[in-house]
Amino acid sequence: MSKQFQNPKGTRDVLPEEQHYWRRIESVFERLADVYGYEKLTLPIFEETVLFQRGVGEGTDIVEKEMYTFEDKGGHSLTLRPEFTAGAVRAYVQNGMASRTNPVKLWSAGPAFRYERPQAGRYRQFTQFNAEAFGEIDPALDFEIMSLAWQAYEELRFKNLGFQINSIGCPECRPGYLDRLKAYYKDRVHDICGDCRSRLDRNPLRLLDCKNPQCQPVIASAPATTQHLCAECNEHFETLRGYLDDRKRPYMINPRLVRGLDYYTKTVFEVWAEGIGAQNAVCGGGRYDGLVEMLGGKPTPGIGFAAGLERIVLTMQAQGVKPEPVPPPKVYLLPQSETGKRCAVGLLADLRRSRIESLIGFGGRSFKALMREANNRGVRIVLILGEDEVHQGICQVKDMETGAQRSVPLADAISSVRNILDGKS
Ligand code: HAM
Repeated sequence: MSKQFQNPKGTRDVLPEEQHYWRRIESVFERLADVYGYEKLTLPIFEETVLFQRGVGEGTDIVEKEMYTFEDKGGHSLTLRPEFTAGAVRAYVQNGMASRTNPVKLWSAGPAFRYERPQAGRYRQFTQFNAEAFGEIDPALDFEIMSLAWQAYEELRFKNLGFQINSIGCPECRPGYLDRLKAYYKDRVHDICGDCRSRLDRNPLRLLDCKNPQCQPVIASAPATTQHLCAECNEHFETLRGYLDDRKRPYMINPRLVRGLDYYTKTVFEVWAEGIGAQNAVCGGGRYDGLVEMLGGKPTPGIGFAAGLERIVLTMQAQGVKPEPVPPPKVYLLPQSETGKRCAVGLLADLRRSRIESLIGFGGRSFKALMREANNRGVRIVLILGEDEVHQGICQVKDMETGAQRSVPLADAISSVRNILDGKS
């Protein structure tokens, strides 16, 4: 026997029986994107490697350990996108979108790739819904982007939702904070892991992100970013908190929340939900007021978030949230002879043109076998097309719900189907 293949580690097949979750989630996000005034942006799945090195940051886990980087046949270094923000900024700058009416609000969705250690809710290929807004510094926009995420989870009927928020300052106040953080860590250099020792000089903010148990006591007493904000960052954060308070959105200020990407300034946030253990951030985002300029554009503020759709599916399942199943097909055409098949093929095309979900029984199987298939498919109506019926210009219409069966002229078959589906007969 030849080799049976397995999907690569950290990827998954989404089988038809899970698709109704995906359909529901995608439709909630896409509808809300319209409601909030975000336009769709479709991006390439791979970009120049250097875009992510610069955008996401050299000292991040993503760039250091997790990128799927390859050389193409032309010798160019390319990387499968580990996230959408860098690509969205590249597209914004390259396509001169700064000249559009501000703020420019965009959304994208699709797969992203990170070479992480797979576990529940963490994959190497995962799917993000991503929203970005460029060109506005107003904290009301921070609130808007957080509200878009929040409303999506509410509409998906998530329980025990909460925001974790923090402000990590700007080029004005961050250096002072980092000096304090480094000084604090220098006294505790023997208590921290090897990775953190190297982070101390290269990328000290990442110290607060370390998951190593050894470093947790040091992180717990580290100086908080929020206590070292400049007046502008402080006012921005306070105004945002005011909006959250007014709308009674539950949030916790988490002074350790720095997020795993280097581009953030001021607001960072995550939405947490109960249900998937340690992986309970279902979405994360924040401001990146320096990124557009860093990637070759004019100085332009930006803010966005990304939601991981696999984690949403897992959380919905853990919380017992059941979306509407995808409706089964409505009609099954059951031909009983070659003449019947020929007529059925034509009728099937007409039914589908009328947008009625319809199937046909293939092959020369017995009536019993075809009826069994119709039953298994869960159709409401079976149209039986036998040799004699077709010669007489009729078919049998069987309502599988009531068991009623009657002869109907072929010309009236579709209206008869409609009447049953509309509950008129
Ligand atoms: P992130 O926190 O790295 O942010 O990812 C956002 C969300 O993607 C996470 O909350 C999680 O739900 C999901 N996610 C991330 N990695 C995995 C994984 N390995 N497996 C499954 N799900 C995962 C960003 O990606 C930023 N670009 C968000 C952003 C947009 N910030 C500003 N604009």
